[in-house]
Amino acid sequence: MADQNQSEAGRHQEVGHKSLLQSDALYQYILDTSVYPREPEPMKELREITAKHPWNIMTTSADEGQFLNMLLKLINAKNTMEIGVYTGYSLLATALALPEDGKILAMDINKENYELGLPVIQKAGVAHKITFKEGPALPVLDELVKDEKNHGSYDFIFVDADKDNYLNYHRRLIDLVKVGGVIGYDNTLWNGSVVAPPDAPLRKYVRYYRDFVLELNKALAVDPRIEICMLPVGDGVTLCRRIS
Ligand SMILES: C[S@@+](CC[C@H](N)C(=O)[O-])C[C@H]1O[C@@H](n2cnc3c(N)ncnc32)[C@H](O)[C@@H]1O
Repeated sequence: MADQNQSEAGRHQEVGHKSLLQSDALYQYILDTSVYPREPEPMKELREITAKHPWNIMTTSADEGQFLNMLLKLINAKNTMEIGVYTGYSLLATALALPEDGKILAMDINKENYELGLPVIQKAGVAHKITFKEGPALPVLDELVKDEKNHGSYDFIFVDADKDNYLNYHRRLIDLVKVGGVIGYDNTLWNGSVVAPPDAPLRKYVRYYRDFVLELNKALAVDPRIEICMLPVGDGVTLCRRIS
């Protein structure tokens, strides 16, 4: 545990990505006190497998996984969707929270990474809740929107993929989520870059996606069909509760 905690704090310092809290010690305190001791064994296993993968910066943090798991239980979610799976940490947090007959439509352009986590998901006994679709999410959403019976059918949708498409996702997801249901957009504080001055030395990918994130945040703030709550969990999560 000590080594693992050390490296988590180190990662936080290095990339400033897993939590936007201004104190590493405080973030570590949250992990040590409330997250790691309560983390379900399969999630721990998947987190450790993912930590060895070269793109592990993409994974949902353990505290955010715990938050999603709690949220899904609080809203009694049953029919859900996830855009952006990677190795499946948030997917597993979701699958463990849903009832036995709960469903997740999970989409990612990369199946290989999902397959890395799949044995853990299977071992946890929740794989039957997941339908994985390999490929870009947008055309799948277009198909879903075409069929009226999908409208208002999702209790929860988690979006954690290509930031340049978030507004395109939102235009479709708003029809698919039920009134009273929740869409969660991940990375809405985008590495803290949303408040960085124009000449700030940002990593290339951070700079590229920043304007899309800013545009999304502006659009969500004035969208009368939703109530919103922007949380400084992980890299920022905005919850949108559909009200009309
Ligand atoms: C930040 S990662 C997702 C992390 C994941 N939620 C987790 O808990 O580990 C983003 C994922 O989005 C996927 N992605 C990128 N563009 C996509 C697209 N157009 N449609 C679906 N998935 C996409 C990437 O392959 C990547 O696995």
